[in-house]
Amino acid sequence: MKSKKELDKIIASIGDLPSIPKVVAQVMELTEKPGVPVSEVSALIEQDMGLTAKLLKVSNSSYYGMRQVIGTLKLALVILGIKEVRNIVVGISVMDTLKDPSTSFLLNEEGLWDHSASVASFSKKLGVQLELDLQGEDFIAGLLHDIGKLVLWKQMPDEYEEIYHAAKEQEVPLFQLEQQELGFDHADIAAALAASWSLPDSLTDALSCHHPHDDRTMADCANPQLCAVVRIANLAAREDFQLDGADPESYASCTEEVAWGQLPSAGLETSQQRFDLLKQFADEMVGAQQFAY
Ligand SMILES: [Fe+2]
Ligand SMILES: [Fe+2]
Repeated sequence: MKSKKELDKIIASIGDLPSIPKVVAQVMELTEKPGVPVSEVSALIEQDMGLTAKLLKVSNSSYYGMRQVIGTLKLALVILGIKEVRNIVVGISVMDTLKDPSTSFLLNEEGLWDHSASVASFSKKLGVQLELDLQGEDFIAGLLHDIGKLVLWKQMPDEYEEIYHAAKEQEVPLFQLEQQELGFDHADIAAALAASWSLPDSLTDALSCHHPHDDRTMADCANPQLCAVVRIANLAAREDFQLDGADPESYASCTEEVAWGQLPSAGLETSQQRFDLLKQFADEMVGAQQFAY
């Protein structure tokens, strides 16, 4: 984990980060008050009709995995609870802030939006399956895990695009080339942005350690289980679970012991068991309506 000082240095080197969306700050502040009434939270979110519509779209998509249709914001608050709705609102708003014409190529043509949606879904399904009670942080940490790429794409387009394409050409992980060329990677930027917006430490840490790294100790994170599901989800989203005769041992998502070691292991001790579960999630996503908006 990089220290606050190190993150500040990174921010200084890439220029000002985007500012926090007003609604995120307001929703975070309101929902942190103990015993805040549902009606007050609902009134605040409802002021933004677009946001309300997106919230319902996300929570009703099979990517989110609810078995019940959620038709109104009030019902969402009752069924999911204030914290989970808060988390979805924060996730959508952060994504909206970074989703603009300058990042459209990365999100659409390069498939970052689809990837982020898949990671969100794998992460949420794993959290629910293992009864981790992550209250939607699993989903939004998955959705936001690669926002550092969007920030870099916006802040240093020429330099970053060169690194991005070089990583593809050389077939090396992007974060490795970022570290080599910049001294930090998109996970650091995501964490810096989350920290500068005062998002919860659990979320900041999950963004920070979503790649297997030597120097980031998952056990030291605010919520190691959240970090673990996001890391596994990120690997799973890139793997093809529909391959005939697939060998689970060759799937990084099934063999990432550091992450699996943070999770309840019952029934998931072997790569085959992990593979079967992740394949079930992948099957649920095939042909499912995504929550693109
Ligand atoms: Fe990443
Ligand atoms: Fe990713």
